[in-house]
Amino acid sequence: MRLLDACARRPVDATPIWLMRQAGRYLPEYRAIREKMSLVEMCRRPDVAAEVTLQPLRRFELDAAIVFADILLPLEPMGIGFHFSKDDGPVIERPIRGARDLEGVHTIDAAADLPYVMDTLRLVRHELDPTIALIGFSGAPFTLASYIVEGGHSRNYAHVKKLMYEDPVTFSRLMGLLSEVVVDYLKAQIAAGAQVVQVFDSWVGWVGPYDYKLLVLPHVRYVMDKVRATGTPVIYFGNGASGMLHLVAQAGADVYGVDWRIELDRAWEQLGDVAVQGNLDPITLLGPPKAIEERVADVMRRAGGRPGHIFNLGHGLIPQVPLDNVKFLVDAVHRLSASPI
Ligand code: CP3
Repeated sequence: MRLLDACARRPVDATPIWLMRQAGRYLPEYRAIREKMSLVEMCRRPDVAAEVTLQPLRRFELDAAIVFADILLPLEPMGIGFHFSKDDGPVIERPIRGARDLEGVHTIDAAADLPYVMDTLRLVRHELDPTIALIGFSGAPFTLASYIVEGGHSRNYAHVKKLMYEDPVTFSRLMGLLSEVVVDYLKAQIAAGAQVVQVFDSWVGWVGPYDYKLLVLPHVRYVMDKVRATGTPVIYFGNGASGMLHLVAQAGADVYGVDWRIELDRAWEQLGDVAVQGNLDPITLLGPPKAIEERVADVMRRAGGRPGHIFNLGHGLIPQVPLDNVKFLVDAVHRLSASPI
């Protein structure tokens, strides 16, 4: 399996590719289902979630499926209510801003509390071509904490940083609790058929290197150590973290996701002897094929045919992307890697 070979830095016949947010609103068949139910309802219906997981694989020769779920799903069983608002994205009903707000917030038993995610994984694995890998995922402790403390999207992460500085004990208790939840959630996904798991640290790039090293990295390391003990490869994606990859490299992952703000070879140099995933600017997909090909070729040149490259975007695909451009990208990666430039 190309993706698993690349995770273990074994040679492959062509560079594996999958795309963050490959299931979603840019697909008309996704929008048709989404019109009839909410995102959370979709996640809670394993038949629907499995169908949506497989949709992009019917159109494109992707090397992996990523289970259709959301990083916020574990919050509800932890005792943290949330909903998606039409215009503002996720809304946490009672943001945690201090020690007292943490009362009543607890760990979960993911297999029992989020059975629909595990059922979706089992359904997808059953239907998926055996050469295609199935990816499970979770938010990273800091990214989850940022939603829980900010209450939703944030411009400057002022609330979560203020908590970090003012009450580091409560911040660390929250991070520790989230780390346990993430480990349990990922282990349950692995038991249900996930062959690789990705930890999304989508907003960690808003933390400076000093705070990352002191207050965030130890929790990421804990998660990596516990999950890697299962023998399943773990991808750690720190979005916006390209300025502190020398610290990110200490997380202990098998594979590091890299955003588009750094050249892939420069990133790889700092990450060391590991597999690397990335790193095309997702907005490139709004350009014409010629522009896409040029930039894909640049990423491939920087990967330089080394084993252990997984092609991906530097962050999630946006809904405005034309379908033809996604097909062009996937085919270009396979074409360019099968016959080196
Ligand atoms: O194809 C896939 O990538 C699998 C499904 C997936 C979803 N969310 C479904 C979803 C994955 C991997 C995620 C991860 C996720 N969720 C992240 C990490 C990835 C990243 O982009 O950094 C984050 C930060 C979230 C939280 C989240 N979920 C936000 C901020 C939003 C609203 C903003 C938006 O894009 O509309 C969501 C909603 C969400 N989760 C959608 C999808 C497909 C949006 C589509 C919809 O409402 O139908």
